Amino acid sequence: MSIIRIDGGRRLYGTVSVHGAKNSVLPIMAAALLACGETVIHNCPNLSDVDAATRILVHLGCIVNREGAKVYVDSKTLTRSDIPHELMREMRSSVIFLGAIMARLGEAVLSLPGGCELGPRPIDLHLSALRAMGAEIDEEGGNIVCKAKSLKGCRINLAFPSVGATENVMLAAAKCAGTTIITNAACEPEIWDLQSYMRRLGIKVHGAGTSIITIEGCGQKGNTEHWVIPDRIVAATYMACAASSGGMIELTNVYPGHILAVTETLEEMGCEIKTGSDTILINADKPRKAVKPIITKPYPGFPTDAQPPVMAASLTADGTTVFVENIFENRYRHVAELRRMGADIKTEGRVAIVSGVKKLHGAPITSTDLRGGASLLVAALGAEGITEISGVAHIDRGYDDITGVLESLGADILKFD
Ligand code: EPU
Repeated sequence: MSIIRIDGGRRLYGTVSVHGAKNSVLPIMAAALLACGETVIHNCPNLSDVDAATRILVHLGCIVNREGAKVYVDSKTLTRSDIPHELMREMRSSVIFLGAIMARLGEAVLSLPGGCELGPRPIDLHLSALRAMGAEIDEEGGNIVCKAKSLKGCRINLAFPSVGATENVMLAAAKCAGTTIITNAACEPEIWDLQSYMRRLGIKVHGAGTSIITIEGCGQKGNTEHWVIPDRIVAATYMACAASSGGMIELTNVYPGHILAVTETLEEMGCEIKTGSDTILINADKPRKAVKPIITKPYPGFPTDAQPPVMAASLTADGTTVFVENIFENRYRHVAELRRMGADIKTEGRVAIVSGVKKLHGAPITSTDLRGGASLLVAALGAEGITEISGVAHIDRGYDDITGVLESLGADILKFD
């Protein structure tokens, strides 16, 4: 079990190239099943969640190879329609394979997915949409058996703009007869990226980025290539690191338009931010001040995934900052750990109230989920003294070599077993 040790208080300076988006590449790896040929995925981050998706594809009979940031998926050899529990429980995104396997084989057997413990994470919207498309689904003892002679296009109104349910319907609809229209679809940039990949396969998909997505089921092209968009949450996390430690860093390979809600908040906190077409420069040398309430919402609202790192950057801001977490019920598990470092945070249900303290001190703390783990790094960089973070496997799910990157920016950081 790895530990990350940080001796805090060093300002960060330098340049970071933001890696490809985890939440794009995982559905695209599932969508590669639709190709019936080889997909080359470029800008693919080296993450344990990508390894988990690779194990699922290999189990299903696909050939997967990696060369640096390029991943090759050959899905011509797909032979199986089941995903065993030990693979499903590794991550939440394993559920996105459901729509893709159904599209390709008309049947799928899997169990309830794992992933970060952020409160109840049901998949009722995924299953009711597939039922509306004609699938028969049995749910027994945590297993899901899904079958359809042929899926049919239809109109699906999602009760909540769920990212995963939108992706699953897009994938299931890719090969079914007729047109599927998703209303109240998720608008996240990762949905748009999935649409771009599906279009490269010749599938007619329109509307991603808006709340209405139309998919016309049809054939596919076979071999294709795709470049994954930059990870907006990784970008937000590095900006939060700079805000916490002070200093000035430049992010390259980033789409500033994807994280406007975060840059506006950090500017309000006192950071100076300059954006180019694919760069963000953040100068965090002024003292930070509290900001107006940070309320997480579906895109383009403030992203729930950026709430923990930005909270960590607000801990030593002057004044009181209120957070309202609207997406996940249990996304304040990092709070208890941040308190060990001297943070003053009160929580009541979905609300967390941060009263800025003069300084944080290092402490032994534990990461309990991916973005919560990132928040501990952010806090530790700005704290006085040594912090040792355990539970690092959570952080490795979504950040490619974060310790190496922070070290290159001047942090006193070490990862060891
Ligand atoms: N929900 C339901 N029923 C469903 C589906 C979702 O009630 O059938 C609820 C969830 O319980 C949750 C809310 O709707 O309260 C939002 O869930 P959503 O389906 O939108 O999220 P997701 O697809 O499970 C993706 C990201 C998350 C990110 C959320 C919100 C991936 C692999 N995961 O999850 O990323 O927080 O969208 O933007 O794309 C992360 O990267 O750390 C992470 C958790």
